[in-house]
Amino acid sequence: MKKRILSGMRPSGKLHLGHAEGVLKYWAKLQDEYECYYEIADLHALTTDYQDTSEIKENIQEMMVDWLCLGLDPKKSALFIQSEVPEHSELHLLLSMIVPLPWLERCPTYKEQLKQIKDKDISTYGFLGYPVLQAADILLYRANAVPVGEDQLPHLELTREIVRRFNHLYKKKVFPEPGPLLTKTPKIPGIDGRKMSKSYHNCIYLSDSKKVVREKVMQMFTDPKRIHKKDKGHPEGCVVFAFQGIYNKERVSTIKKDCLSAKIGCTDCKKILCEKLVKSLEPLLEKRKEFVAQPKLIKDILNEGRKKAGETARMTLQEVKEAMKI
Ligand code: TRP
Ligand code: SF4
Repeated sequence: MKKRILSGMRPSGKLHLGHAEGVLKYWAKLQDEYECYYEIADLHALTTDYQDTSEIKENIQEMMVDWLCLGLDPKKSALFIQSEVPEHSELHLLLSMIVPLPWLERCPTYKEQLKQIKDKDISTYGFLGYPVLQAADILLYRANAVPVGEDQLPHLELTREIVRRFNHLYKKKVFPEPGPLLTKTPKIPGIDGRKMSKSYHNCIYLSDSKKVVREKVMQMFTDPKRIHKKDKGHPEGCVVFAFQGIYNKERVSTIKKDCLSAKIGCTDCKKILCEKLVKSLEPLLEKRKEFVAQPKLIKDILNEGRKKAGETARMTLQEVKEAMKI
């Protein structure tokens, strides 16, 4: 039997190349090796955005299209919306009974976000329970492994602690302890050289048109020491060069040489990248057009995912209740 994985993403808007290279391509690859459950974590989105929920529905649609374009395959994986499988909420409640408050209060992501997020009031019961909800997500499917970024490791550790406490309290090994499958931090910077992130306004989105992609490439930061074309360049630290390394692998070593010897100028280098990048994004844009034209298909896929996830979730929840004698 294949091992199981679960992972999720909050529907916080359209995805960018960093998501594609760092996370989604990995998720897509895992589909052949594991039984996969991938959820759109809309309840998690509520923990921070409960005051303004106006964009959640649209973001879910957008995210699903991005997932499908990048190769998440409803024939292989359950692709579903967290809130459409009510067992997530029920297991979250049951687990909340056994999780000691200090475990949550000392969670580094919790402390960090309380300090950082100032424009929203997140001093709520729901936000404190964020990692319990995440544990419920994972445990409902008895996932053996969870593909996550490094920032999520404390949540996974907490999930394992909850597993040990649950299995010990109710004297039954209902849950396995899930381990991480680390997703590598993508080597792609944003167009200004910082980490690619929506809040920095430096992203290339999977949904950007070719024209927009070209404009963004032309705005990319290059070697600041290179003022004239005859100045020798320093490719390390240059955003364009980092992109060449991913989207133009065949030519990257030549470009490096030509940059170091000032044989190629930055504008030409950007033009070369434009063509490569646009070419590699073209099939995605084609697929996007197809999916966007078929809202019924997306709906069917999500229904299918809800059914598949729901079946597994119901079985687990029943065992949980039996173990807890309720
Ligand atoms: N907290 C995760 C994030 O912000 C998203 C998430 C929700 C998740 N449920 C999950 C990740 C379950 C892994 C497993 O990225
Ligand atoms: Fe960067 Fe290319 Fe200019 Fe070199 S030539 S600094 S790699 S944009």
